[in-house]
Amino acid sequence: QSLRCEGDILRPGGGHITVAVTYTPLLDQHGRLVNIIVNVMDITRFREEEEMKSTFISIISHELKTPVALVKGYAQTLARPDAQWDPETARQGLQIIEEEADRLEALINNLLDVSRIQAGGLRLELADVNLRRLLERVAQDYRTQTDKHTIELDLPEAFPIILGDEERLRQVFTNLLSNAIKYSPQGGTIRIGGWVEGPAPDSSTPARVVIYVADEGIGIPEEDLPHIFERFYRVDSSLRRSTTGAGLGLFLIHAIVEAHQGEIWVHSELGKGTTFFVALPLQEESEDAP
Ligand SMILES: Nc1ncnc2c1ncn2[C@@H]1O[C@H](COP(=O)(O)OP(=O)(O)OP(=O)(O)O)[C@@H](O)[C@H]1O
Ligand SMILES: [Mg+2]
Repeated sequence: QSLRCEGDILRPGGGHITVAVTYTPLLDQHGRLVNIIVNVMDITRFREEEEMKSTFISIISHELKTPVALVKGYAQTLARPDAQWDPETARQGLQIIEEEADRLEALINNLLDVSRIQAGGLRLELADVNLRRLLERVAQDYRTQTDKHTIELDLPEAFPIILGDEERLRQVFTNLLSNAIKYSPQGGTIRIGGWVEGPAPDSSTPARVVIYVADEGIGIPEEDLPHIFERFYRVDSSLRRSTTGAGLGLFLIHAIVEAHQGEIWVHSELGKGTTFFVALPLQEESEDAP
């Protein structure tokens, strides 16, 4: 019979690969050992996938359990036959139930999007998108949700119309804005702005619009920056334990931007703030649209 073992091999340049080695004895017709076949297999991806699955289960179960427990708790309390809740208490309880239900809905939608991406990418419904109007609406939605933050919009009056999927782009900017708020618990100003870039002289990049969302929050440590667009990645900080999140927002944003042939990148300074930049290509024919 064969013998199998697994182990990590450190690479000289850092990092490691995981290998599975199988030793199979080769016997002749008299049962004597003639040779040993050694089969070495790189199972790094497989291991990563397994780790991802267990991360997935622990994060999702935590992210699902918390809102469900809150909804149940508040509903049970409000429904107690012996209690006479004053309208204000009842209203507050119902508001929490609604917020938690919203959170569950958002998480379920994110999970569905992630599985769509993994099953072969996002399908975009392309049409003209007025980015300026879209950003104004998104900013307005969030202004009503925070009183600690000032949300400023600084876009040129004639910001171009681009070809894109409006709902998906809305998702990009709502996720960026919700992160900007979530990760600047002290408040501050959140700036949304943008500019138009001509094609690179060597035409390596086409004409494009760049939009940024800048906050004055906690920032992202340099060593985490290469990972933040990965599925389920969350920076380990004290805030991680006190805020909710599955680490899916940036993964989805990245996929949506890529599906638009765009680019996303980030600048961050610990303790000072973070700026996300999204570049989207500009179509020739819509360049001079209002
Ligand atoms: N504006 C920001 N400032 C500081 N850290 C950020 C910012 N945006 C993202 N991060 C870090 O990157 C991580 C990944 O962000 P992402 O939006 O993917 O996940 P999340 O906000 O934790 O959860 P979800 O978006 O799924 O609710 C966050 O957990 C946070 O640590
Ligand atoms: Mg997020």
